[in-house]
Amino acid sequence: MASISPRKRSASWNFQLAVMLALILGPFLLFVAAILVHKARSPAHVNAPANRQNLSSSVEGDEDPVFDNSIVIAEGHEAVRQHCAPCHSLLLVAQNRNSRDGWAALIDWMQETQNLWDLGEQEPVILDYLAAHYGPRPQSRRPNLNLEAIQWYPLFSENR
Ligand code: HEC
Repeated sequence: MASISPRKRSASWNFQLAVMLALILGPFLLFVAAILVHKARSPAHVNAPANRQNLSSSVEGDEDPVFDNSIVIAEGHEAVRQHCAPCHSLLLVAQNRNSRDGWAALIDWMQETQNLWDLGEQEPVILDYLAAHYGPRPQSRRPNLNLEAIQWYPLFSENR
């Protein structure tokens, strides 16, 4: 019966260990390298705070309202952001129109049924903002067409 000498056995053990290490460390090092390459390439200016500040600091005077993808940026918008965004999108706020009282009633409703907290002294700030920028609009759709004034014409000629 041939038996492997201790020396040979330890040599093959070392080889197996080296293969195992290579198998484990290889993918890991590739992964780290991939992350480093990706970081070096991705544009750092996307989402940079400086960009966002430019956006909000451009609202002064009577310029058109500025949005940051959700609500008008104007006095009080921070309070709305802080108290109205935790549970649902601010777009839910922006798509609604209400008088100041209407907004107050909606806030009451959320406080009574949806666990909205006491807004404290921020409540008037929030209500002022909502009434100013999301108040009722006099007309929400275009006026009806005046049927009398339309000049009709045939789509097909008579002797086709
Ligand atoms: C504690 C959670 C919570 C907070 C904070 C919160 N809401 Fe709501 N809100 C709700 C829930 C829940 C609904 C119902 C959502 C639904 O119907 O899908 C809702 C619905 C709404 C609606 C839609 C009402 C309708 O008729 O469809 C508006 C507008 C609204 N919230 C405005 C606000 C405003 C403004 C604030 C900040 C003052 C605010 N919410 C803060 C929980 C919250």
